[in-house]
Amino acid sequence: MSAAHEFEVSRRGVLVVGASAAAAAAAAPAAAQGQGAEPPVIAKVSLEVNGKRRALELDTRTTLLDALREHLHLTGSKKGCDHGQCGACTVIVDGRRINACLTLAVMHEGAKVTTIEGLGQPGALHPMQAAFVKHDGFQCGYCTPGQICSAVAVLNEIKAGVPSHVSGDITAAPQVSVDELRERMSGNICRCGAYSNIVEAITEVAGRTA
Ligand code: FES
Ligand code: FES
Repeated sequence: MSAAHEFEVSRRGVLVVGASAAAAAAAAPAAAQGQGAEPPVIAKVSLEVNGKRRALELDTRTTLLDALREHLHLTGSKKGCDHGQCGACTVIVDGRRINACLTLAVMHEGAKVTTIEGLGQPGALHPMQAAFVKHDGFQCGYCTPGQICSAVAVLNEIKAGVPSHVSGDITAAPQVSVDELRERMSGNICRCGAYSNIVEAITEVAGRTA
């Protein structure tokens, strides 16, 4: 057998083996969906969303973000990364800001959830929403609902005396400074880079000058 023929045979063999492996890989997910796949567990959950009691029946794996967006059609809260890294999904639950993509809806039975729709509406904006408009605190607006929910909660955290990583003295009352705001808002990413205008907006609502 010539060297060239040997190469041809072994190349054909490789192709056959490769095709078999690809077919097996394609069949694997189908098998996983068949016998052995667990059916979803459905649970009842009741939330108070923007002041209204909402009763839901959800697959227990449903995140709070998907419950809000897909089941209650409150699409103001955005899905950016779905991994807790961008803050676009920030909502306020029982007074504290959280990433709605990182928590399951069924963990919040009876909780009070405030989304951007619950803070204010066109014609009756929350002061933080109005300040973002006034200071151009956004460009594309995708991160903005999360930024605004976060900003509202940040001012409450400062008022409650909760220290941050940059607070010099954790026993002293934290101040509304640019450093404090940048640190506390650091979990809310803005791809448009509206950060300095966002700080100006929050500073104004806090009643100070940046
Ligand atoms: S979508 Fe929740 S942190 Fe990015
Ligand atoms: S305004 Fe576009 S990502 Fe923030």
